[in-house]
Amino acid sequence: MNISRSFVLAGTVFLVIGIGFGIHMGASGKHDFAPLHAHLNLLGFVLPMVFALTYRSYPAMGESKLAGYHFWLHIVPSAVLLVMLFLLLAGSITEASMFPIAPIAELLIFVGVLLFLANAVKNAF
Ligand code: HEM
Ligand code: HEM
Repeated sequence: MNISRSFVLAGTVFLVIGIGFGIHMGASGKHDFAPLHAHLNLLGFVLPMVFALTYRSYPAMGESKLAGYHFWLHIVPSAVLLVMLFLLLAGSITEASMFPIAPIAELLIFVGVLLFLANAVKNAF
């Protein structure tokens, strides 16, 4: 698995959807989906691109097993969280019903970031 390429590909899928929501908001004048749009673009695209470039800049980080775990811990829970945010903003679910899946997804993303940190400390210096 080429970690940088995987982050670029997955991140760009989020960007396509995120910009789609941006255009939809601009065209309709309804900005209800702004938090979803922001996090699709930032959590979904900008962060994975930063990760991709970091793993490319520090090949020892990219080759570490931690990088593979980080990929799945970022992409899958982010997708789950963003689908839930979509359903929330669309009025299909309530904030209360996001428990416990949303906090678990957030925790998994956080664990991924901790692995990224551990990988950086181990392999980037
Ligand atoms: C064609 C591309 C894009 C369009 C048409 C677009 C459109 C919009 C619109 C209509 C809003 C709502 C503004 C408001 O309610 O005040 C918005 C908010 C926002 N957009 Fe975009 N956007 C685009 C690309 C991006 C990209 C690439 C990013 C980040 C990398 C981004 C980040 C944000 C953020 C952070 C907000 C504020 C969200 C909030 O206040 O909760 N947008 N955008
Ligand atoms: C699991 C990760 C994340 C969670 C759970 C989260 C959660 C939130 C929440 C609850 C809000 C307030 C929404 C509102 O007031 O409607 C917010 C706003 C925002 N978040 Fe995140 N966020 C996450 C990751 C990120 C990342 C990685 C970025 C940027 C790289 C980011 C950028 C923003 C921005 C720009 C706003 C809007 C601030 C504003 O309107 O003043 N978030 N986020």
